[in-house]
Amino acid sequence: MTDKIVILTGAGISAESGLGTFRDTDGLWTRHRLEDVATPEGFARNPDLVHEFYNARRTHAAQARPNAAHTALAQLEDAHQGEVVIVTQNVDGLHEMAGSRNVIHMHGALAGALCGGCGARWRAPDVMHTSDACPTCQALATRPDVVWFGEIPYHMDTIWGHLTDADLFAAIGTSGEVYPAAAFVQEAAQHGAHTIEINLAPSATVSDFAETRFGAATQTVPDWVRSELDRHT
Ligand code: APR
Repeated sequence: MTDKIVILTGAGISAESGLGTFRDTDGLWTRHRLEDVATPEGFARNPDLVHEFYNARRTHAAQARPNAAHTALAQLEDAHQGEVVIVTQNVDGLHEMAGSRNVIHMHGALAGALCGGCGARWRAPDVMHTSDACPTCQALATRPDVVWFGEIPYHMDTIWGHLTDADLFAAIGTSGEVYPAAAFVQEAAQHGAHTIEINLAPSATVSDFAETRFGAATQTVPDWVRSELDRHT
């Protein structure tokens, strides 16, 4: 049977590529008030501050490289007979850079720009300014194409569909603190999927998982992928 594998990733999978997480001791939300830089209200209040925050993250992400965990997931997609889908909360492009093709960015991407006026999307320049005009409608309403708190994550219908027919659901490097992603494990389990949490430490939803593997992603994810591929050979 060619199992369908659905994988949810969070900031923890990119931590060893040098990109910060949000809620760890030195996480992004310990250095910035998320209300100021990751909400529509914060953007309306001070768009320059928000552009500055995402310009810095975009530059940092562009200098980062995939780590062994990203590479292992790309290898799983290549070698596994069944479908492998990555649903990522991350806005970096490290899964794609590692070779994964079936990647859904539910929180958008630093590489994307969006017009708050007409909804046009284009590839974000390295540095965005409030003075940038939308290339489609010329409005001075350009923003990073990332999903802020209080906004609806992208591709949810597609994601719920994948969770319904998953045989295996893995959550990697996520704290399970943010919904709807934190509810994916229950949705998958209710539809018969085996569930595994692969994380540095137990997440807020660890009790929802049938199996857990703890440790740094660059160790635990390659080990898990090897065991999955061995299981099917
Ligand atoms: N290997 C594996 N897991 C790790 C590693 C590592 N090297 N380093 C940290 N982690 C784990 C932490 O234990 C934590 O559970 O990664 C998780 C990171 O949690 P968060 O910082 O909350 O990041 P995430 O779960 O992706 O946040 C979800 O919240 O702020 C919003 O939109 C933002 O997408 C983000 C969402």
